[in-house]
Amino acid sequence: MSETLENLYSETRQFPPPAALAAEANVKAEAYERATADRLGFWEQQAERLTWAKRWEQTLDWSNPPFAKWFVGGELNIAYNCVDRHVEAGLGDKVAIHWEGEPGDTRSITYADLLKSVSQAANTLTELGVTAGDRVAIYLPMIPEAAVAMLACARIGALHSVVFGGFSVDALATRIQDADAKVVITADGGYRRGKPSALKPTVDEAVAQCPSIEHVLVVRRTGEDVTWGEKDLWWHETVEQASEKHEPKAFDSEHPLFILYTSGTTGKPKGILHTTGGYLTQVSYTYNAVFDLKPETDVFWCTADIGWVTGHSYIVYGPLSNGATQIMYEGTPDTPHKGRFWEIVDKYKVTILYTAPTLIRTMMKWGDDIPAKYDLSSLRLLGSVGEPINPEAWMWYRANVGHDSCPIVDTWWQTETGGIMISPLPGVTSTKPGSAMTPLPGISADVVDDQAESVPDGGGGFLVLREPWPSMLRTIWGDDQRFIDTYWSRFGKGAGTGDEWIYFAGDGAKKDEDGALWLLGRVDDVMLVSGHNISTTEVESALVSHPSVAEAAVVGATDPTTGQAIVAFTIPRGNVDTAGDAGEKLIQDLRNHVAKKLGPIAKPRQIMLVAELPKTRSGKIMRRLLRDVAENRSLGDVTTLQDSTVMDLISSGMQGSKSED
Ligand code: WT7
Repeated sequence: MSETLENLYSETRQFPPPAALAAEANVKAEAYERATADRLGFWEQQAERLTWAKRWEQTLDWSNPPFAKWFVGGELNIAYNCVDRHVEAGLGDKVAIHWEGEPGDTRSITYADLLKSVSQAANTLTELGVTAGDRVAIYLPMIPEAAVAMLACARIGALHSVVFGGFSVDALATRIQDADAKVVITADGGYRRGKPSALKPTVDEAVAQCPSIEHVLVVRRTGEDVTWGEKDLWWHETVEQASEKHEPKAFDSEHPLFILYTSGTTGKPKGILHTTGGYLTQVSYTYNAVFDLKPETDVFWCTADIGWVTGHSYIVYGPLSNGATQIMYEGTPDTPHKGRFWEIVDKYKVTILYTAPTLIRTMMKWGDDIPAKYDLSSLRLLGSVGEPINPEAWMWYRANVGHDSCPIVDTWWQTETGGIMISPLPGVTSTKPGSAMTPLPGISADVVDDQAESVPDGGGGFLVLREPWPSMLRTIWGDDQRFIDTYWSRFGKGAGTGDEWIYFAGDGAKKDEDGALWLLGRVDDVMLVSGHNISTTEVESALVSHPSVAEAAVVGATDPTTGQAIVAFTIPRGNVDTAGDAGEKLIQDLRNHVAKKLGPIAKPRQIMLVAELPKTRSGKIMRRLLRDVAENRSLGDVTTLQDSTVMDLISSGMQGSKSED
């Protein structure tokens, strides 16, 4: 018997692309046919969107799988492609980044300004002894210098390893050590929730454990006092004094570009390695195709932090290689008030907004009246990334942010895939709320059972990628075996069956009756209830489809009769009364609501009403901790939790909650 995932949720709403957008779309339906007819030829055409110093000789070398080489023999400079060539084309005065500091200070940086700063930073790094192949750690708040530092590394062929500014001493030190970095670029601090939040002390402590670090380059952002050591140099005394001329050298297409650590579920973080030509080709193409960028008129805003891959690919490399104008915001969405995001959209007349389901659900919880206070009519396209977006959150986003007319692109990808893989094309695809729809042209995603057989439409299973793609990770830094074991050993040749190398992404998915793809969360989170594999995502979406619910997290807890039972943690919407009997009644309503939507098998055994959910710093729900609560265990590792007080609240509320039949 082969193992698959149940398909319980059905969705009938569908939204065709707006006619005007479809008529002018950058990418039309023919792209799918072109890519199917000649996949490598299709990617060659996309590589031609870039400026190469030397053309490649071979599009793909897949002779040593799973180690791919793309555009073999080609040479290019990434920073030249993101900056210089736009200035050479006469766009020097065009704004690349409108930066908005949390306290309300602003800077507008043109492509000419960017060229100057990136050249100066490249000269400084070179003076500090950084050469091609060296590693530079970047630990910065969301300030323009973060993009400048990344591009300066790329310009001289050094690998950047950006570490999210919210990470601890330990997280920073292990990442520096694993990559053996020579330089750290940081700041005195940044602004967070209305006050300066120091970074330099964390760096000082980490560097004390990292003998490989020779220099620490410090941007002055907050002006707070810092302790000064002999490795420390101010950015304004070095970079800002350096020569503004820097000749970019071309690097091999497979020259490493960056390492980005992802924590994974257990053990030491994996240093995901991306290289030059293939990465920029796919990121630059997908940016143009999925966001339909019109560089003369669009104002793009991706709300991710630069410390995550979303920030790498769709704040730095995608937008800048396409000559976009974009917004970069330093702070949190509720500082100084809960309308801050919409105020920024209104102020800069943002046309394309790319954000995460966790934020959309938070905005739902805060209430419809908040976005309603602002003029969001400039928006023409919305995007979502990071988690499955529940259909009701999608509908809320469309109605309250997208004035019922913006297409929504739900983009599935990973740190490992480097760029977007599955997404609607906004001028082609009729979207369904909650579905990432179809693989992009040139991408071969599939849903398979445990025998690696493609499941039929209507079936669920494991999301896999059957062919290499240009922006795929090349390995795990320093650990080829772990790369093979982690991604290539579940199905296909790597598992000892067949000749095909199959990449397994770790996610469950289903195909609906039309073949559209629905992401169902990590397969590690799948619940086994009375012999049925039920995805947490489907039960969560059923809960969020109830008008009283803003957000939900579902886990499977050991159960004597059903093997596992469904336990749900639910955040009510802002205006919902949950005191006393009203709360008990809501819980019963919700259990019945889920049973009605998905069938009795999916009825939660227990539902908790909570104020917050445990999330990672990138906003993903940490179901592992909720499982500990649901099974009355003491909590596992909480160090990656965004807010450590959340679990105390949830655990204390858990006692005495009884909602079983
Ligand atoms: C995991 C990758 C991709 C950049 C940000 C996260 C989940 C991501 C979606 C989506 C459903 C999604 C998957 C994936 N995920 N996008 N549109 N629908 N799930 O990068 O931290 O490497 O996480 O995020 O589970 O495997 P990441």
